[in-house]
Amino acid sequence: MDYSEFSTSIVSELPKEGLITCTSPSNIALIKYWGKRPVQLPENASISFTLDHCKTTTSLRYKKKEVLATTFDFELLFEGQPKPDFKPKIQAFFERIESYVPFLKHYTFTIETSNTFPHSSGIASSASGMSALAYCLMQLEKKITPDITDNDLLRKTSFLARLGSGSACRSIEGPVTVWGEHPDVTGSSDAFAVKFPDTVHQNFEHYQDTILLIDKGEKQVSSTVGHNLMHGHPFAHQRFDQATKNISTLKEILISGDLDAFIGIVESEALTLHAMMMTSMPYFILMKPHTLSVIQKIWEYRKITGSKVCFTLDAGANVHVLYPNQEKEKVLNFITNELVAYCQNGQYICDKIGFGAKIV
Ligand code: PMV
Repeated sequence: MDYSEFSTSIVSELPKEGLITCTSPSNIALIKYWGKRPVQLPENASISFTLDHCKTTTSLRYKKKEVLATTFDFELLFEGQPKPDFKPKIQAFFERIESYVPFLKHYTFTIETSNTFPHSSGIASSASGMSALAYCLMQLEKKITPDITDNDLLRKTSFLARLGSGSACRSIEGPVTVWGEHPDVTGSSDAFAVKFPDTVHQNFEHYQDTILLIDKGEKQVSSTVGHNLMHGHPFAHQRFDQATKNISTLKEILISGDLDAFIGIVESEALTLHAMMMTSMPYFILMKPHTLSVIQKIWEYRKITGSKVCFTLDAGANVHVLYPNQEKEKVLNFITNELVAYCQNGQYICDKIGFGAKIV
């Protein structure tokens, strides 16, 4: 693949020093990405809701070096404290993007980040964290190449975020984004995410996502290991084909606003993701008993009330409860009365569909 459109050269004077602050949210996949090829390219297209509340704020302080060095120089602070264990990830990210961001070694950076969601809540901070850092870097690039168009800037931000953490590329814009080349999605690419190109039905406006924190412990199997287990997985090809078909189906649902069809496809995708984990070799299970209890309760509630509430899952035990804004009061009552008992320390986060990264 030729990604030369993302290469730039330093043409103007580099700014001496400054500070850029931005926020970028997490996202929740409706059609899941599980399985990748080098470097960080998806085996199938995925589609997600960008979130609003769960986000990372990143400040990038940059100071031009007197003499150009051969190393990346950066300091990292997480919630105000030095965070040496995050450094290798950023170092690897800088190495990966260096050929597209040629000014990196010209600066000493201080990167300060914080999250709105509790640390070790089981909510992955890589999507919001990597997209926030990519967004800050591209704001600096804009100072160096001011002619870059808004569209090119967003595409390259998503392209860089992807190289940090795959699903991070879907956090730059909102409310719905697609990552991965797909014949039914105009402009889609494996290299970056695009905003869902059609008009999303008003049924999905302000769509709610209440995240139930079922288990906040460290996952036994990381996403990286999980993706790798799709190589040689007995159902890999069927899964990638299914996801490709599901994108076409979900596209029509997002346009038509058919919530029953939405529930069917979203819940099936969540369970299929976990079925892939259970049928990997070695096999593993990330759901906990309380994950299943919550799913049962949601199904019962839906049957009794006719509600359009449904669930999806990430690569973990937490449950994302998705529902239309019109049902907010009723579903929140149901959650507090019947589901919170299954959350670790009764913790849950009220979120909703959002619009992507922003400068602060
Ligand atoms: O971006 P990664 O490598 O953390 O993988 C994310 C995988 C899922 O969250 C399980 C699915 C998805 O599409 O976000």
